[in-house]
Formats: sequence, structure tokens, C-alpha cells
Amino acid sequence: MGPIEIKPYIYWVGAVDWGVRDFHGYITERGTTYNNYLIMDDQITLVDTVKHDFSTVTIENIKKLTDPKKIKNLVINHIEPDHASSIDAIMDIIPHAKIYITERGRKGVERYWSGSGWDFKVVKTGETLNTGKYTLTFLETPMLHWPDSMVTYIKEVGLLISQDAFGQHIATASRFDDEFLATNPWYELEDAIIDYYANILMPFGQLIKGKIEEIIKLGLKIEMIAPDHGLIWRKDPNRIIKMYLDMATGFADMKVAIIYDTMWQSTEKMVMPIMGGIKEEGVDCKVVKLRSSPMSVAIKEFWKARGCLVGVPTLNNLMFPSVAEFIYHLGGLRPKNRIVGAFGSYGWGGGGVKEAYEYFKRFGMDVFEPGVQVQFSPSLEDEKSCYQFGREFAKKVKEYHSKFNSL
Ligand code: FEO
Repeated sequence: MGPIEIKPYIYWVGAVDWGVRDFHGYITERGTTYNNYLIMDDQITLVDTVKHDFSTVTIENIKKLTDPKKIKNLVINHIEPDHASSIDAIMDIIPHAKIYITERGRKGVERYWSGSGWDFKVVKTGETLNTGKYTLTFLETPMLHWPDSMVTYIKEVGLLISQDAFGQHIATASRFDDEFLATNPWYELEDAIIDYYANILMPFGQLIKGKIEEIIKLGLKIEMIAPDHGLIWRKDPNRIIKMYLDMATGFADMKVAIIYDTMWQSTEKMVMPIMGGIKEEGVDCKVVKLRSSPMSVAIKEFWKARGCLVGVPTLNNLMFPSVAEFIYHLGGLRPKNRIVGAFGSYGWGGGGVKEAYEYFKRFGMDVFEPGVQVQFSPSLEDEKSCYQFGREFAKKVKEYHSKFNSL
């Protein structure tokens, strides 16, 4: 696409990945971008690199602005390979440049490229780099979302280069929020933000809230947020900050996600009466069938809803594998402020629903018990039980949701 000036003398020099659909298991149906930024100041400084496959793209973008050999400093905000795996390609051009990075970042880079001999300048929160007109201030953001993470703030233009935070996986010809929203609806961007937050940042809500509050307390004037994925927040950075605070504080729609799989359609037959009971209570419902939907979609729909019912067939006295994978994946994301329950069918011996509850509790989730089970295919009586289960769960979700209304 070529470099794009985002602030005076500061350019986006990244890459658009139109084709990526599997991002370490997370399905990126809209593709993504790897954003990095070149500061054309007295000391030319590059902030972040891009995924290795796109190293020539960013180098060509830089060449349109300057001779890459003139770069004096490389800032590495985050060492995950989608941002840092072009370090070697960049450092081959500027072997004597100084790399500004956190201590954990340095250790990580030295593991990835042992014996590189690169010149690291380890930085802590509040330390600065003056490039001439601009002052870059570094702010460590450990565990947001890796231990090495930091962000870079440029006070003269109120620019926060936020690495993964505030990003979205969207490949688009637009670089800015207002540019994208001129021809696309807000819900498309909103969906991408929630998808990204749910699949990557869900475990870190409290840290996110704390870090945003810390930034607010520091009184930093933020005119623009430039993340390392997706659109740059030029028009309305406060919109994404507010959205992150909401999500970190317990935001969810007052609805139920039913996420299930089925072997011979018995568990599937339970879905409709359960949904009927939920709807009878005036609660909206979203149904996701595992194996028909990417895991990341199931995670996103889980995150959007205040309550989730997991439909789990029993296989060999255990959870059906696709459902086990979903619950296990969810456990790692440590969801808060959601209530879960389970239902499912079994043949000769149960076990799936019981095991689902064991895992819910192991992962510290709020549970609605007991679940409902049927042997073989649901009878009319079983369908009534499912309907009632749906109603009772919806009542509980409404009660559970009411405590978040004031947030
Ligand atoms: Fe986009 Fe944590 O890397």
C-alpha cells in the first residue's frame, strides 16, 4: 500500500495480510494487518516490525521514505512473532542500531536470535527516547498480553502506539477508523473488536482496567491510538478506550449463548426446547454448533452473552471431544461475569454433563446446576424438561445480569 503519514513525520509502514485465516488457531475471517511506524525525525526510529512473511513489504515501504540504513533506533513493544519476527531482516540492514525494549523482551529476543550481538537498550516505564522533535515515552504493560509488552507514547502529538491493545483483525484498504466507517457500518468494526478482545484479551480484564486508569491518572493527552493490528483510532480514540473499559468491567449482552455439538442429533434436539424456554423469559439466544463453526466464533459468542449453556454429548463416559476442547479453551481465557450450565444426551452410561460441570468449577466459572441429561433421543417429556431448564436458566441470567447494570 505504501507508507501513510499518520502524524507529521510519523508514517505507517506496515503490511496488510488479506489472506490469513488461521492465526495460531484463531480464525481470522477478515484477515489482519501488521502495523509498524517509522518516525522520520533527526534520529530516524522504527517502532515495531511485522510478521516475517512481510519483511520485504515493510522494508519497501521504508525505502519510499528514506534509505533504511539511516534508521538509528528500533523500538520493540512486543516480541510475539507477528510483530517481531522481522527483527533479523531489519537488523541485517542496520546492525548497529539500538533496540529499545523491556528486559523481558530482551530476554525473549535473545532466545529467538541467540548470539545476535545486537545493542539493546532496556527501558522501564517513564524512560524516554528523544528523536529530535519528538519524545518517545515507554510504558510497560506486562501481561497485556505478554510479559514483555510495552506501549510507546509520543507526547508532542498525543500518539499512543499501543501494540496489540485496541487492535482488530481486519484487512482493509482503510488505515483509520473514520476512513473505514465512512463506507462500513459500526457493527462490523465492533464485531471485530469484540472478537479480538474475547479471543486474546479476555483473561486480562483487570489488568486492562488498571492500566487504562493508570494512563488516565498520568493525564496523558491521547489524540490518536495506533495499534499493531487493524485500524488506527484517529477520529475517536475515546470510543475504543470506553469500549475496553466496558469489556474489562463486565460488559455482556443480556442473552444466552447455546454452544453445542452432537453425535446423532440427540443433543441437538434438546437445543430447540431449551431455546424456547429461554425466549419465553424474554431473553435473546444465540446458537453455535461446534465443528460447524470456528472455535474463535464460539469464544466470541460466549463472551458477548451473559449466560452460556453448553450442549455436550457423552462419548466413552466423557465429554464429546469438540465440546471438551471448547471448555478447555475457555478455561485458559478465565472468563469472568458469566454464568454457565450444561445439557446433553448419553447412550448407555452418562458422564459428559458431569464432566462439563467439573471443568466449569475447576476453571472458577459461576455455574447453574443441575444440568439436564437425556438417554438416547429426547422424549416429549424430556423436551418439556429441556424447556423448563431453559426458562430457569434464563431467569437466573436475568437476575445475574441485573448486578452489572450499574457498571
Ligand atoms: Fe499481535 Fe501478541 O501479537
